Amino acid sequence: MDFDAYDHVRPIRWLGDRLELLDQRILPLEEEYVACADADAVAGAIRELVVRGAPAIGIAAAWGVVLAAQALARQRPGIDSGDFALAELEPAIATLLKARPTAVNLAWALQRMRRAMQGAGVDWLPRLAAEAEQIVSEDLAGNHAMGLAGANLIEPGSGVLTHCNTGSLATAGFGTALGVVRAGVAQGRIARVFAGETRPWLQGARLTVWELQKDGIDATLIADAAAAHLMASGQVQWVIVGADRICANGDVANKIGTHQLAIVARHFGVKFMVVAASSTLDMGTATGADIEIELRHADELAAVAGKRHVADGVKAWNPVFDVTLAGLIDAIVTERGVVMAPQASKMALTFVAKGVA
Ligand code: MRU
Repeated sequence: MDFDAYDHVRPIRWLGDRLELLDQRILPLEEEYVACADADAVAGAIRELVVRGAPAIGIAAAWGVVLAAQALARQRPGIDSGDFALAELEPAIATLLKARPTAVNLAWALQRMRRAMQGAGVDWLPRLAAEAEQIVSEDLAGNHAMGLAGANLIEPGSGVLTHCNTGSLATAGFGTALGVVRAGVAQGRIARVFAGETRPWLQGARLTVWELQKDGIDATLIADAAAAHLMASGQVQWVIVGADRICANGDVANKIGTHQLAIVARHFGVKFMVVAASSTLDMGTATGADIEIELRHADELAAVAGKRHVADGVKAWNPVFDVTLAGLIDAIVTERGVVMAPQASKMALTFVAKGVA
């Protein structure tokens, strides 16, 4: 398929000495890039959701390491050992790692950057920049591959519901779950696309339907609370979502609300697909119970677009991810393999035995 015809947005721009991030807090009403000149600024942008989505967070962090490395090379010219440079960069890497806890892609990307430095000589800095470029190009190619692999599972004429934003804005391009939607629409397998608004941060309402509109893909926005009613109506055959972390037993952490979609989908006989890069696999974590779920400030629930609508003094609880148990999932699609009805033994066979994760 002509991938570029369905992929018009780029959230991350590397400009050689700074990183520009499309500010996802103000989309779609304003399209502005935030410039980050150092690793602290990148960590802040990840924390504040200027950039979000598991793969995009990893990519931004990788460039954050390059920025820290450039600063080190300016302050201490003549470093000729990657291992020495790595020791100096560990505090910056630790700051980036702490920016958000749930998406494992962040730790994965930082580990790759560490490895690129290990054993390097005078060329440690260009090696780091090349590694960041490589992470970006692998992510884009992987998204194309999983888009086709996921679309392949969908019967022509199907309707789909997606959640949060898993598109170009959340990745190096094309997207994971949204890549499957793009490929499925291009191939005529998907006839109807629905997107949940994704309270409280509205990734679906502000980002997903905007991206799809740019690509000329017809999509219908629903309130999150309309999902059961929609599935009961028979208009949806697949729920397709991304992931922030996939455990060894196939449990999946993803945007809050994913778990209830999986329960409702099972109730109505709607299939449930998780689409993610292999960098989202965390085979070292046994089950979803071991995943740290990010809790964000209660104020995110109290206001929309900066306007408060909740009485002062009201308490709120704001976990921004949840865990969907493997038993509720029909397919986990990655660029390196698809697992149907995931469970620990199949995950190990597909990913550990083949050296994927
Ligand atoms: O809080 P966010 O917007 O970073 O959460 C994003 C999600 O939950 C996505 O579904 C996930 O990161 C996959 S993005 C390809």
